[in-house]
Amino acid sequence: MIQSGSIRLRPISEDDTDLILELRNDLKNAANFFSDPPLYDFGHKKWLASLDLNGIYMVIEYVGEKVGTIAITNIDYRHQKAEYGRIVVKDSYRGKGIAFTASNLLISYVFHNLPIRKINLEVFADNIQAVRFYEKLGFEKEGLFKKEYYKNGTWKDVLRMALFRETWEEKYANSNKN
Ligand SMILES: CC(C)(COP(=O)(O)OP(=O)(O)OC[C@H]1O[C@@H](n2cnc3c(N)ncnc32)[C@H](O)[C@@H]1OP(=O)(O)O)[C@@H](O)C(=O)NCCC(=O)NCCS
Repeated sequence: MIQSGSIRLRPISEDDTDLILELRNDLKNAANFFSDPPLYDFGHKKWLASLDLNGIYMVIEYVGEKVGTIAITNIDYRHQKAEYGRIVVKDSYRGKGIAFTASNLLISYVFHNLPIRKINLEVFADNIQAVRFYEKLGFEKEGLFKKEYYKNGTWKDVLRMALFRETWEEKYANSNKN
């Protein structure tokens, strides 16, 4: 459990299946994900049962209400890197800094507790809101994979972004000074 004020991250469980189906089968959200809807409850439960210990899969709660998900996956101790992803917040809880604080909490947990020096992510290049959100968190653009994914009738460019531990520590130190 990771908590800051009214925002709490706790491990995902089978009881969260309704939340996951609601978020992932919402077509507006699904347009931004690499996987396609529909996601079925049995498919989700199978995926859940197959998870290994190579990731941290959390539900975001706001004042006790389940509002979204976030994860750190593909933790790679050999190369000291990991992947940030599965970030989504219910429509009515956006623009309130919940996703930002949840991300900060999880990233901070990883950099403080694990020997990880780099966190990377992939996002559709036209998901401007998400790209700007990641930049606010400190992620920088690393590369563009052109026409990488077929989605909603078009070939989409995929942007790779990364956040280094040093950048994070500098940002964290600076924010402490303010
Ligand atoms: C991406 C997503 C999670 C962002 O959620 P959100 O609710 O808009 O994010 P927040 O409210 O936490 O942050 C919104 C803004 O406040 C900023 N912000 C919030 N708290 C802040 C803080 N303490 N310090 C600095 N900036 C902050 C954010 O960076 C962002 O800036 P902007 O106004 O320039 O856009 C949300 O849009 C979403 O669920 N999208 C659909 C799913 C999706 O696309 N996921 C990504 C797939 S790769």
